[in-house]
This record gives sequence, C-alpha cells and structure tokens, in this order.
Amino acid sequence: MPTIPENLSRRQTLASLLALSVAGCSGGAGTSGGGSTGTIVTPAPTPAPTPTPTPSIAAANIKGSAAAKKMRFGSSFAWSGPGWDVASFANPNYAALIEHDCTILVPENEMKWAIVQPTNTTPDWTQFDAMMAYAESKGIAMRGTNLVWHKRDTMPAWTESHDYGADPVAEAKRILTERIQNVCRRYGTRIYSYDVINEGVDPGSGGLNETALSQAMGGAQTLIDLAFRTARAEAPGAQLVYNDYMGWDAGSTHRDGVLALLRGFKARGVPCDALGVESHLASPLPVANAIANQTPGWRAFLDEVVGMGYKLVITELDVSDGGFPGDIATRDQDVADYARGYLDLMFSYPQLTDVLVWGLCDKYSWLQGFQPRGDGLKQRCDPYDATFQPKLMQNAINAAFVATTARP
Ligand code: G3I
Repeated sequence: MPTIPENLSRRQTLASLLALSVAGCSGGAGTSGGGSTGTIVTPAPTPAPTPTPTPSIAAANIKGSAAAKKMRFGSSFAWSGPGWDVASFANPNYAALIEHDCTILVPENEMKWAIVQPTNTTPDWTQFDAMMAYAESKGIAMRGTNLVWHKRDTMPAWTESHDYGADPVAEAKRILTERIQNVCRRYGTRIYSYDVINEGVDPGSGGLNETALSQAMGGAQTLIDLAFRTARAEAPGAQLVYNDYMGWDAGSTHRDGVLALLRGFKARGVPCDALGVESHLASPLPVANAIANQTPGWRAFLDEVVGMGYKLVITELDVSDGGFPGDIATRDQDVADYARGYLDLMFSYPQLTDVLVWGLCDKYSWLQGFQPRGDGLKQRCDPYDATFQPKLMQNAINAAFVATTARP
C-alpha cells in the first residue's frame, strides 16, 4: 500500500489519494477487455480526468519580512488544557502557526478584569501565567489587553453593583488603582505594551462611556486619566495605549470622540503613548472602491492622531467576509485585497511598527460566533484556514511588510 508523506497539506493529500485511485482504476481497465472478433468487447473506459488540485499556498515568512523593516507581527491567543481544540498555545496546530509568524502575542481574554476577577475577591492569574510562560519560553513579547474595558457590559459585574459607600470617590479610586497595581506589579516589564483603556468612547454620541465605577469617581474622564497615570507609575517602561474600534468604514462620530479624548490627554498631560486601532475590517463590495472611498477620511483622522505625537498600533486585525459571496476563491481574494489595501495605508505611517491579528486561524475566530455569515458558511477572516493552511491573507500581510519602508 503506497503511503502519503506526512508533511503534505490537506489539498495535496487529497490530490495524492485521487491520483492513486485513478492509477488503480486505469491499471484494472488495461488488464481486462481485449479479445477476438465475435467476443463481447468491453468498451475501453473513458479515462478519468486528472484532477487539478487547487494550488496550495506556501506560508510566507511574515516574521522575517516584518523584522527586516524593524516591525513586528503577532496575534491573540488563548489558554487551554492539553488536547483542547481552541486557539491555545497548548494546541500544537495553533502553536505551530504562532511560532511560524509571531514575535508578539496578546491574550484574547485571559487578562481582562471580568475574567481574572469575576467576583470581588483575589484575582486568579493561573491561565495568564501559563500563557506568559509559553511566550517567554519562545522569546515572544507580550502585549496586555486590557487594564479597563470601560463599558457597562464588559466591566466586572461586581463593580456595577458595588456599594461605593460614604466616600464613593475614594472607594472607586481604590478599586481602580488596585486593579492596575494587581496587573502591573505582577507582570511589570514582562508586558511591553498595555491597552490601559479599551473602548472608552461611545460610538453613537462620541462622548465617554460611563460605568458605576466612573460615576462613583465623578465621571469617565477622571477614571480614564487616573488609569493612565497609575499605569505609568506602576509600569514606567511600558507603552501605554488607548484602544478602540473606530474604523475607516464607519461614520465620523466615533473617530471625532476618540480625537477629542486624545486631544484632552495632551492638554492634561495624561501619559498615553499610542492609539490602538483594533482593525476589525468589513468591506462593502467592490473592495477597490471601498478602499478608495474610505481612504481620505481615514487619512485625515490618522494625520491628526500622529500630528499630536501618538504612535499607532494595529491591535486586532481581521476581515469579516459576511458581505462577500460564498465562493471561496473570490472570497479569499477579496479578504486579502482588503487587508492589503488597509495595511498599505496604515504602513505609510512610520509611527506604526506593531501589527496583531485577532486570531491566526478561521476555525477559532470570535467572528464565527459573534458575526456568523447569513448563508451558514464559515467566516474566512484570518490568515490561515480551518485546516491550518495559509490563505491569500497570510501572503498579503507579508507582501505589505515587504513593500513598506524600514522603520528608523
Ligand atoms: O470562558 C467561558 C466558558 O467558560 C464558557 O463555557 C463559554 C460559553 O459561551 O463562554 C466562555 O467565555 C466566553 C469568552 O469569550 C471565552 O471564550 C464569553 O462567553 C465570550 O463573551 C467571550 O467573548 C470575547 C469577547 O471579546 C468578550 O470578552 C471574545 O472571545 C473576544 O474575541 C472578544 O474580543 C474583543 C476585544 O477584547 C476588544 N475588541 C473587540 C473584540 C471582539 O469583540
């Protein structure tokens, strides 16, 4: 029985199996039939067409291409026990993707306040400790997201229902300060960059989100400023980031709100170093028109951000293909083209050096659950497909690194 080499891709394996089965059929046909006139002649079988395998795509060297430009690429990842089929370092299939492409990592959920401290008791760092140990064992740098995700439904439930007592300002400041100390005193310089505040602007109004904690403290601006000042005091060497999802594909209210916040930081001397641009992309078709139409407004926004002295970080890149037709070849091309157009624009800003995707593999993307396609097909939103094979998006990300100029 012929064997299939172990290192073949799924498509190559299927093609090999088909080729073997075709060879087997032809051999059988060739030995039957024939004979003299008058005997029943078995018609020669029509040869089965040689299958044309979909060309498999080689994984590009993103790590090397980014390093050549003094840039870095990375991804979110998760914790799990051994044998779990999730986007974890303990899943050998996912770890192989991390180790092929990434020099930076960020926990998808395991550092969030509501996850490590769901009740008003001691935080549990078991999972994130294991993730940190993995990253360090591989020489991969770690981002932290996030110190405070400032929306009512993403804060720990207990901070919403907490009795802030007779001196609510002091109590709220104590709780916020302790949260930031808990993280920064444990991990310190082992985390090179923190999302200090995540999604603090209301996209609808452009104003700041309020929570029970911020209201007890006297308002969101007080909370946000205190968070950054505390983070700087507790992790003086770390990059401090305001992270949000204001995008090039939406109206300007959200962007204007973020600009107002960033201007306020400068006016008040709040130590925020960078804007985290989440980059959960979704394109109207055709992609080329969307890129052209969205570029002027987005450039104006980014120009103002960097003009104030902020750096840029792409923190959560993926491309929802919910608006694209089902055909996989076309869909993968559209996703890759949109990502490439976006990255080319973003990379034109030398203030951007770090790019992280929100997952390397379609199989585990948050979009499968949060934004399922209407036709029931799976999203193909990440660089690798559900069988861990590289897609055009993986190559497009690499091509953007190759095309850009080296950072100083
Ligand atoms: O951990 C529980 C698990 O015990 C339970 O069995 C399971 C059942 O649903 O839920 C698990 O928790 C889920 C968690 O992800 C871990 O998988 C939560 O329900 C789910 O709400 C949570 O979703 C995360 C979401 O943030 C909310 O925290 C997504 O994975 C994560 O991708 C998403 O990430 C956010 C960024 O932090 C901020 N920017 C937007 C981005 C996408 O929404």
